[in-house]
Amino acid sequence: MSDEFAKDVAEGLLATPKTLPSKYFYDAAGDDLFIQIMDLPEYYLTRAEMEIFRDQTDALIQALGQVPDQPFELIELGAGDGQKTFYLLKGLLAAGYDFTYVPVDISSNVLEHLQRYLADKLPDLNIRTEQGDYFKRLKVLQETDLPRVILYLGSNLGNLTDDKSKAFMEKISRRLTAGDRLILGVDKKKSADIVLPAYNDSAGITSAFNLNLLTRINRELGGEFDLAQFRHAPEYDEENGIATSFIESTADQDIKIGTIGKTVHFGKGEKIKVEISRKYDLPIIRKIIADTPFEIETVFKDSRSYYLDIVLLRD
Ligand code: TRP
Repeated sequence: MSDEFAKDVAEGLLATPKTLPSKYFYDAAGDDLFIQIMDLPEYYLTRAEMEIFRDQTDALIQALGQVPDQPFELIELGAGDGQKTFYLLKGLLAAGYDFTYVPVDISSNVLEHLQRYLADKLPDLNIRTEQGDYFKRLKVLQETDLPRVILYLGSNLGNLTDDKSKAFMEKISRRLTAGDRLILGVDKKKSADIVLPAYNDSAGITSAFNLNLLTRINRELGGEFDLAQFRHAPEYDEENGIATSFIESTADQDIKIGTIGKTVHFGKGEKIKVEISRKYDLPIIRKIIADTPFEIETVFKDSRSYYLDIVLLRD
């Protein structure tokens, strides 16, 4: 991991404009901060999706298109703490479905947690964890010949540009067979006064989460970032529905990064782009899946219509 991390950091920080890949958010400290983000009053996404999974469990189960006596796999890309999925898993077990839950996550820490939690709460659940970067480990979708339902929740698709989303959806679809389904959870396009605070909470947790990237570079790559000289600076483009998180240098400074053997210059006010969180509506989703064999089958919404869980059928 460290070599790849060094290479990605060097590439991102020596480019103009500067970028850092957001997948490196998730070390132990980042996982912990992200769990706190999901609980923040301003961060409505997780609660909205949780509400759908909690209040519409039976309809969701119907929409998976499976039958109780035929085994299938329920594969979750970026499972995290599994809080939303829990309702689905519980409902499926109660209704007598025969399935294996396959959570995939880049963080082994998160997976160990999840496995212990589910072993305790749902002892009858069949589970097979897969640790890895799901963008590179899509063969997890083809480890058996069973029908598959893929869960891709948390508006994680929104952390990709639309071009990359298209390519990713195509790649997933090639690993699936006709009749398989993908549940895509995405945040809806809405006004800045709702969206922006979700990425700029008053307790400063999102700021700590973003700046943790610099702490990680300091620790793992011999970086010399002074966190007091950088700040979290989110923006939301309401018209296009794209939130962007930047780390902004508050001073003119040179930062040495030992492992990559480089010193990186930052002008005062210069920004590192670290993450986008795209917001969607159905026309945008249709465009993204236009060249794939996916079609929109069912759409679930929360009571405020903030969030969508879209069932895509691979035909
Ligand atoms: N995918 C979620 C979102 O876009 C979670 C997330 C990813 C996130 N990176 C983030 C949340 C950075 C806050 C800050 O909202």
